[in-house]
Amino acid sequence: MTTPIVRATSRRRFLQYLAGGPLAASGALSAYAAETPSKLPDPMIWAPPGSGDLIKSPKDAINVFEFEPVARQNTPPAHFGYMASGLDDEVTLRANRDGFLKFQLNPHRLNDVSKVDTSVELFGTKYDSPIFVCPTGGNQFFHPDGEVAVAKAARVGNHLQILSTSSNYSVEDVTKARGAPIWFQLYASPRFEVAQALIKRAEAAGCPVLMVTVDRIAGRNQETMFRLRRTDTRECADCHDRSSFAGRSVRRHNYDGIDLSGITGGGESSNLSWDTVKRMRDITRMKIMLKGIVTAEDADLAAQNGLDGILVSNHGGRGEDYGRSTIDALPEIIAAVKGRMPVIVDSGFRRGTDAVKALAMGAQAVGIGRPYLWGLGAFGQEGVERVLEIVRTETRTAMQQCGARSVKELTPGFVRRAT
Ligand code: FNR
Repeated sequence: MTTPIVRATSRRRFLQYLAGGPLAASGALSAYAAETPSKLPDPMIWAPPGSGDLIKSPKDAINVFEFEPVARQNTPPAHFGYMASGLDDEVTLRANRDGFLKFQLNPHRLNDVSKVDTSVELFGTKYDSPIFVCPTGGNQFFHPDGEVAVAKAARVGNHLQILSTSSNYSVEDVTKARGAPIWFQLYASPRFEVAQALIKRAEAAGCPVLMVTVDRIAGRNQETMFRLRRTDTRECADCHDRSSFAGRSVRRHNYDGIDLSGITGGGESSNLSWDTVKRMRDITRMKIMLKGIVTAEDADLAAQNGLDGILVSNHGGRGEDYGRSTIDALPEIIAAVKGRMPVIVDSGFRRGTDAVKALAMGAQAVGIGRPYLWGLGAFGQEGVERVLEIVRTETRTAMQQCGARSVKELTPGFVRRAT
């Protein structure tokens, strides 16, 4: 019975909306923004309405959700809307959170978990935590230090960072800030020459893995963004040149020096095919993974096509509003892959227990997107550091409490589908 929780949450939000009045409606001052409502308990239940109770410093945060209203307060409405938005009715966005209710942990007692090792190894590199930083474009929308601040925060906890093609800072600058190789996420673009130039650049910057995003194929209907953008008093054209893709990319430094003529719209890769991926294989020594696989059939095809791994992701509900959470799809994808390549996962992960469920199902690492952007928008690098620390600590605690001494020990017996 989850309905009363939904009602309680919605009612509290409604009261806060009323309390917020016109200011809140304009987006100038948030009532508690909180995430898209879901059937999960409100993470900030009993928080008094208004902005007086927002956290003042990263160390005050008791969970990752507390950064979101602070980020909302600090971030122009259009940028906040860009980050928060799902697509259409945002069914997938909500499903990503609700999906975790379909699974329960199965703790094992008396396992002596006085020592817990949360590290994971991916392609021969050890990371201290199974939590990785998802690629998100345009981090300067949230803080001037953008991806560099994120990299410095990832460095503190030795997290894997995957950098977006659409980052504001270049792959070289971010690698330097991270102090270790990062992975490069590729938006292939409709012209292979552009993909080729980006691949060469990432390889030269020392990236060991190319993460090809395969779920940004068409345009997207980001209604939350469009709605919040209406409340933004600034002139978008002052910073964004939407007249051409080349103009749009002026502040996306990975494109520097690359001929972008003929690329229109958002540069969606609607002509991407298994053949394109084969061509990529021929021009790089980097490992190649696919980001955006959501079905067992495609996971099997990826293994058959010699991919080095997949990231099970629905782009945080931003690919298409197809309605299913990644945690729900994960078990059948793991079964289809049959250990032929590593499987990692993202979309909707907010808690250590969320991560432990996926790791127990067989994912080798778990990515977070929006939570670190909340941290970035709220407090810059320190905010990202604290967000990562919270998820890291929660994951460790959940492992320990479940009776697993290492990520390897987290096997399917630690999770069950709720009946
Ligand atoms: C993204 N994501 C994304 N993915 C990608 O492959 N390249 C990109 O440039 C971006 N940009 C981006 C911007 C913003 C603002 C968001 C929220 C997301 C998707 C991202 O890598 C990841 O799949 C999701 O963010 C994971 O879901 P959660 O954690 O945000 O729920």
